[in-house]
Amino acid sequence: MDRIRIQGGTPLSGTIEVSGAKNATLPLMTASLLTPDRLTLTNVPQLEDIRTLARVLVELGVTVEAGLSDLPIFKNGQRPRPRTHRLALTAADIVSTTAPYDLVRKMRASVLVLGPLVARFGEARVSLPGGCAIGPRPVDLHLKGLKALGARIELRDGYVEASAPQGLAGAVIRLPIVSVGATENLLMAATLAHGTTVIENAAREPEVGDLARCLVAMGAEIEGIDTDRLLVRGVKRLHGATYDVVPDRIETGTYAMAAGITGGAIELVGARLGLLAQPAQLMNEAGVDLNETNEGVTARAKNGRLHAVDADTQPYPGFPTDLQAQFMALMATADGRAVVTENIFENRFMHVPELARMGADISVRGSSAIVTGVDRLIGAPVMATDLRASVSLVLAGLAAEGTTTISRVYHLDRGYDRLVEKLAACGAAIERVGDDPR
Ligand code: UD1
Repeated sequence: MDRIRIQGGTPLSGTIEVSGAKNATLPLMTASLLTPDRLTLTNVPQLEDIRTLARVLVELGVTVEAGLSDLPIFKNGQRPRPRTHRLALTAADIVSTTAPYDLVRKMRASVLVLGPLVARFGEARVSLPGGCAIGPRPVDLHLKGLKALGARIELRDGYVEASAPQGLAGAVIRLPIVSVGATENLLMAATLAHGTTVIENAAREPEVGDLARCLVAMGAEIEGIDTDRLLVRGVKRLHGATYDVVPDRIETGTYAMAAGITGGAIELVGARLGLLAQPAQLMNEAGVDLNETNEGVTARAKNGRLHAVDADTQPYPGFPTDLQAQFMALMATADGRAVVTENIFENRFMHVPELARMGADISVRGSSAIVTGVDRLIGAPVMATDLRASVSLVLAGLAAEGTTTISRVYHLDRGYDRLVEKLAACGAAIERVGDDPR
């Protein structure tokens, strides 16, 4: 298994091209199931999670063609954007409505085929998902919502079986807690339901808005995009479209923190500052200056040591759980004591003992971690445990004295497009190395 080796201590300086958002691309791919026509996505990140979901879709009979976007897209006065990766998905000849365990277990987002399949074909059989080891992650809200839309739901042999032979019917659904995945599944299902659906307490994450905008481009009727109340008027059929995936705000935040933790400055081409919401504000308070430019966003560490700032994960526009581990690494060398609280997932502090191996001073009390900044981190062999935890170790390694070796890097391949190349281009001494021979 590959490892990543980092020689820390170099302030990062340079340009990073931000990729399309993983968490937008995954639901957008499953939206292709809603139409027999071709859905073309551009600005698609090159990630293992995308390949896994493509395999699930191919299993169902979707034709998936990968390539490069036709034309460089650029506006007046801007640097031409390089051609981006494109995925063309055509669900004209579906051969199965079953998403099997051996594929779904690799990635929880495969559950997003459920809503589109039952809406268009009246049936779906999807294995209960696996995914990151970050505590119990049920899908009860997805299932309750589909039931409210008239689907019959049964759990058999580890599979969810949903059926609606007469089609789905619009309903008012109030989600008891904000769920990105449930909002997306129900939004997709509602586009082809008879009548009007209202989703209350809907997730407002930019990736949900991206999905809604793509569905509108496919002919769906949706009001309240980017708000917590989505109103969907069902239509008989959707058609094909071409859609450009929103930039990845988590990747943006991660590299901005890489600039901050190393005392460097990076230009994040293609990034959108507005998508970052609260993390931008907290990074600023901590001493990382973020500014919007024509090309994207610049992230620059202000002079002197970073300051401790508390963070508290919340649904968008609050602080995202997907940046919690990285922020904790940032706070590990800041001046003072920061309290980082995780409210979205249980068991999402697996990076804490690994950061401690590098000299971080962190104690966990319930859902809060108290981080007392130390003068310096020291390189060590550490282990990646989940996607975001792994990248927090990369950040710590970039700032640490000496060598950090991170094993189990397949977690990073799931969600960070060409991470080693992007950081190396900014002067980081980082490389991917093969198996430990011992
Ligand atoms: C998505 C993101 C993930 C991010 C998370 C929270 C994708 C592919 N993944 O995951 O990176 O960390 O949003 O921003 O977009 N819950 C239930 N029942 C359900 C569904 C969710 O109790 O049926 C709970 C979860 O356990 C969790 C909370 O709701 O505590 C939020 O989860 P949710 O927003 O659904 O996360 P995902 O969509 O799985």
